Amino acid sequence: MTSNHLQVDHVTRNFKLDTGTLTALADVSLDVAKGEFVTIVGASGCGKSTLLRLLAGLDVTSAGTVRHAGEVVAEPSLDRGIVFQEPRLFPWLTVEQNVALGLLNSKLPKARKAELVNEHLELVGLVGFGGAYPHQLSGGMAQRAGIARGLVSRPNVLLLDEPFGALDAITKARLQDELQEIWAKENVTMVLVTHDVEEAVYLGDRVVVMSPRPGRIREIVPVKLARPRRRTSSESVAVRDRVLGSLHETTEPAQPSSIPSPQTPEWDRPKPAVALAH
Ligand SMILES: Nc1ncnc2c1ncn2[C@@H]1O[C@H](COP(=O)(O)OP(=O)(O)O)[C@@H](O)[C@H]1O
Ligand SMILES: [Mg+2]
Repeated sequence: MTSNHLQVDHVTRNFKLDTGTLTALADVSLDVAKGEFVTIVGASGCGKSTLLRLLAGLDVTSAGTVRHAGEVVAEPSLDRGIVFQEPRLFPWLTVEQNVALGLLNSKLPKARKAELVNEHLELVGLVGFGGAYPHQLSGGMAQRAGIARGLVSRPNVLLLDEPFGALDAITKARLQDELQEIWAKENVTMVLVTHDVEEAVYLGDRVVVMSPRPGRIREIVPVKLARPRRRTSSESVAVRDRVLGSLHETTEPAQPSSIPSPQTPEWDRPKPAVALAH
């Protein structure tokens, strides 16, 4: 087995609801190599966030195991950074203090922590903004601070849950490029969840396509395109088509299970496939 990689081994995650049991993930297996950039796409509710939380150690499996560098993942670790869609910055703390939260459980000396915070503000292009408060930042800057906080402990894995989902298209494209540069420079393993097929194909070495109800891996599409990639190249478009085809195969209402069952809460019923087409 390769050291220092992620291994999701026959993982199932059930949630108990008043109406019964909801299987968010059913028998999911996935290996991620050290330094790999894996992206995960799928319709809303197919278990992407659940899978990422399990990888982070923020949740526990109902069956199966998650391993990082051969060790069973049971709790969060400084070796695994995490970035969410909303940057989740504390409004009463400065950018610097927010980034330093990524070192809260670290035993490093104070001076080294300050050094790491500065290094990572530089890495994400926020030099000069350490003393600013979150409300003074644009959405893109706030997410850069979120990425700095995820990386400040120098984890070997960074887990990102729709990190650019709330950003405008131009900012999003810029941050995708910046993230890719950081990945190339820092040799960090990245697992990025998105519902944006273009993003998944632009960034991923492999695109994991998930299907809903229950959440499973439908297909893993390799993206064998040299970087930097061109979003509009015919090769990129062809891979996108393949991923979209795989997604639509699974998000078209199936018969007869598309009829909402009592186990499916109203806020979680199948959403039209068209929601993915952006
Ligand atoms: N803590 C929880 N309690 C109950 N149901 C949950 C919980 N977390 C997720 N779910 C359900 O599990 C399914 C997968 O959710 P999630 O992983 O958030 O999907 P995605 O991120 O792909 O949109 C959904 O049906 C969701 O409602
Ligand atoms: Mg999610």
